[in-house]
Amino acid sequence: MQNNTFPTLFVGQSIQKLEEIDSTNNYLKLMLSNYEPLANGTVIMADHQTAGRGQYGNKWLAPAKKNLTASFFLKTDFILANDQFNLNKAVSLAVYDCLTHFLIEDCKIKWPNDIYVGNKKIAGILIENRLQGKYLKDSIIGIGLNVNQSEFYGVNHATSIFRIIKKEMDLQKVLEMLCVALEERYLQLQKGENFDKEYLKNLFRFNLLGIFRCNGEDFEGRIIGIDSVGRLMIESDNNIKHFSIKEVSFVL
Ligand code: BTN
Repeated sequence: MQNNTFPTLFVGQSIQKLEEIDSTNNYLKLMLSNYEPLANGTVIMADHQTAGRGQYGNKWLAPAKKNLTASFFLKTDFILANDQFNLNKAVSLAVYDCLTHFLIEDCKIKWPNDIYVGNKKIAGILIENRLQGKYLKDSIIGIGLNVNQSEFYGVNHATSIFRIIKKEMDLQKVLEMLCVALEERYLQLQKGENFDKEYLKNLFRFNLLGIFRCNGEDFEGRIIGIDSVGRLMIESDNNIKHFSIKEVSFVL
């Protein structure tokens, strides 16, 4: 574990950089299960993940040393389990803030927590919470952010900072900005700030007519909001339906 000089109070103050690991989320989980004392805001970053994990059991593939693959340990014991989607909102907005800082325009949060530029994914977030009674205990926030990858062979819907601004970025600088943004959003969350307005303002396809898929069937609808437990609210044929994470997908 190395100490850092990021301009933060705690996120990224303790950081471990690994050359190769299966998954930084798994690594943090293992540390927790070994009862290793972890400071709030500890970061594990890897040059290369051999079995990076995405949402819904998907793989997260990233070439070595090109992109940011990191996990952040956060104490989240002030968040009610029922309100845990607020954490997703805070983290999505932090990644959004970080990208906007690097002059990435037209950045959107694709529910539940992907980050898109135009119709292409630039970052993915995998949040794994531990519960304690009615509250969360702590959370592992895994973030995969495409930074310097120039080609995405066979993948049409992915992009990177490099592809957008045509400039290579120092991964350490991107990590620093991400730590700053995450800490800011975390502190807002702790103060009880409400992210709904900002989340909806930056939500992919918000209030636009689009095609969605549910149980293999396509339908036309318009996202009108997110409910209190984080379900996507879609208006279709004058009906409002609430979809939880695995129930609906976007047809792009
Ligand atoms: C997704 O889009 O499905 C989420 C992708 C999350 C990938 C990151 S990379 C760092 C951390 N370690 C993992 O194994 N996954 C997350």
